[in-house]
Amino acid sequence: MPKGNATAADMLLQTQDLCVEFGSTPVVQAVDGVTLDIHPREILGLVGESGSGKTVFSLSVLRLIGKAGRIRRGRILWQGRDLLEFGEEEMRRVRGSEIAMIFQNPQASLNPVRTIGAQISSVIRLHQKCAPATARQESLRWLEAVRITDPIRVYEAFPHQCSGGMCQRILIAMALACRPKLLIADEPTASLDVTIQAQIMDLLLEIRETYGTAILLVSHDLGVIARMCDRIAVMYCGRIVEMAESRDLYSRPQHPYTRLLLQSVPVPDPSHRPTKIAQPHDFVGLDAISQGGCRFRPRCAEAEPECAKTEPLLGRISQEGHHVACLPRQREAADHREKRRNDDGVPEVHEDTSSVAGNENIIDPWIGLSQRV
Ligand SMILES: Nc1ncnc2c1ncn2[C@@H]1O[C@H](COP(=O)(O)OP(=O)(O)OP(=O)(O)O)[C@@H](O)[C@H]1O
Ligand code: SF4
Ligand SMILES: [Mg+2]
Repeated sequence: MPKGNATAADMLLQTQDLCVEFGSTPVVQAVDGVTLDIHPREILGLVGESGSGKTVFSLSVLRLIGKAGRIRRGRILWQGRDLLEFGEEEMRRVRGSEIAMIFQNPQASLNPVRTIGAQISSVIRLHQKCAPATARQESLRWLEAVRITDPIRVYEAFPHQCSGGMCQRILIAMALACRPKLLIADEPTASLDVTIQAQIMDLLLEIRETYGTAILLVSHDLGVIARMCDRIAVMYCGRIVEMAESRDLYSRPQHPYTRLLLQSVPVPDPSHRPTKIAQPHDFVGLDAISQGGCRFRPRCAEAEPECAKTEPLLGRISQEGHHVACLPRQREAADHREKRRNDDGVPEVHEDTSSVAGNENIIDPWIGLSQRV
């Protein structure tokens, strides 16, 4: 898997400073300056509480936010080309055949008056322009691939005759039928019970192994994606506040919000009683953004006076590509680097804590350091 020093050429998808907003008075900034990259074959987790902007971000990548919203700023680079410059016809080709998406409520995503077979076949025919008999064969093959036990019967069935887990498998089959390079899965198991949840997650892992499909896995639950993802990005109030390789994020969470999220993951041990987490305010709203400074400050037990004045940007704090948007954490990382430089006698390199993954215009102090030692 690519590490923190990946270049733009390694990336399948890269958003740069993506801003998406709704309404006019007041304007709701659902996604506010998100820079994120996904590499081929990578599973990237996007986590954050309800309303943090995960779905708006995912839909924006496919330019599907609808008339109510608008992409105000930024770039969405798909294999180096900006999707915001694509015409509608070209965009239709990208949707499905290059980037596919599955949603939270599988039954609601299928057309209730058409058979499963008709729906999968029409997707295949739309993208591959093949004969009906070929589309049928392909559909049955994909139903088998997603472990539907009786594909011929399911092919003739209507969505209401299938369980929630089956419907999600069918949607995954439809998404994969055109062999996309990226699958966006927005809370794909939220409406399913835990055993089916685990089966669908196993299926997604298998899909990555077999077809090399990269996956953007969206969830509000860090526990669900713990074993799935190579890297995880934590979203809060429209911004990425922490991003790291999964193991790093779980073993050394840096942002106070990530720590709260991790503490809220249930532990299946009757002797374990979660401690009440001190939160000065539970309410998050436009106020937190319009007041300036760090938008997590009203809920942060570690806030300092400086946090009210300066909005922290996502900055890189380790050679492994751990990024965080928190002033004290960035200061500690800078102090640590300074100490290492002094201990090793390595000359000081310029630091820019506004650095974000994939931004080639920044000076990355860790790259500078690793090249020198
Ligand atoms: N059509 C819309 N009109 C106005 N505001 C919207 C619209 N769609 C989303 N928003 C706002 O954008 C913000 C982000 O919403 P989004 O659906 O992306 O959250 P989410 O992180 O996916 O939450 P959840 O975990 O509940 O799915 C929210 O404040 C939401 O109210
Ligand atoms: S910048 Fe300050 S307020 Fe924001 S998360 Fe860090 S410590 Fe808390
Ligand atoms: Mg959502």
